[in-house]
Amino acid sequence: MYLALDFSTWNEARTFIDAHNFQGVPVKVGMELFYREGPRLIENLKQDNHDIFLDLKLHDIPTTVMKAMTNIANLEVDMVNVHALGGSEMIKRAKEGLISGDSNHEPKLIAVTVLTSMDDTSLYKELNIGGSVNENVVRLAVTANKNGADGVVCSVQEAKEIKDVCGSSFLTVTPGIRLQGSDGNDQKRIATPALARENGADFLVIGRTVTNAQDPKSAYEKVQKEWRNGIK
Ligand code: C5P
Repeated sequence: MYLALDFSTWNEARTFIDAHNFQGVPVKVGMELFYREGPRLIENLKQDNHDIFLDLKLHDIPTTVMKAMTNIANLEVDMVNVHALGGSEMIKRAKEGLISGDSNHEPKLIAVTVLTSMDDTSLYKELNIGGSVNENVVRLAVTANKNGADGVVCSVQEAKEIKDVCGSSFLTVTPGIRLQGSDGNDQKRIATPALARENGADFLVIGRTVTNAQDPKSAYEKVQKEWRNGIK
């Protein structure tokens, strides 16, 4: 379970971590925080013993992504990602970049399939992409798998089929997690932690269902309990 540190500054993120006793939990750092604080933020989080998913969603020509990944590998985070829509060559080169870093700690490479903020209508009406979200997600997962990614970001709804098609060791990382009754915000393909468990997701990304809760720690523990035990 990665707690999404969707804050504008390290100071805000650290205040939140300290106020709610999230010291040492696995965290996800996205572009908002990273673009403000840069690599020193990663150093700070590592010093505080957090596992780190660096969610920068790279999407550029293969050579640029490869070189960026070489630099990212040197940050020694645990997980990084690209957009699968960048294509097979880009995914392959991203992996090459990670392997060629100086560090012995190679991050897992995850490919974002279709953002969980998109649905069938937005895919077709805005991007003119045919087929359902589900079909597109599975096709992108197969491409990612063939080209060296360790897994994909997808919604809980697609996790089971991806495991069936790509194999059980191919990782599924699922955002859009909401406790029953929480606001979906801008996410369209949301699911509970219990359904994520049932569908075989490997990692949850937990954001606003915890960070916007009145009592973030107890919301986090509730997510964790549902995720570990399901709802009986
Ligand atoms: O607040 P919420 O739980 O919706 O947060 C989801 C987090 O996961 C955000 O930080 C968002 O950037 C990230 N994410 C996502 N969809 C992806 C990849 C990452 O929502 N495909």
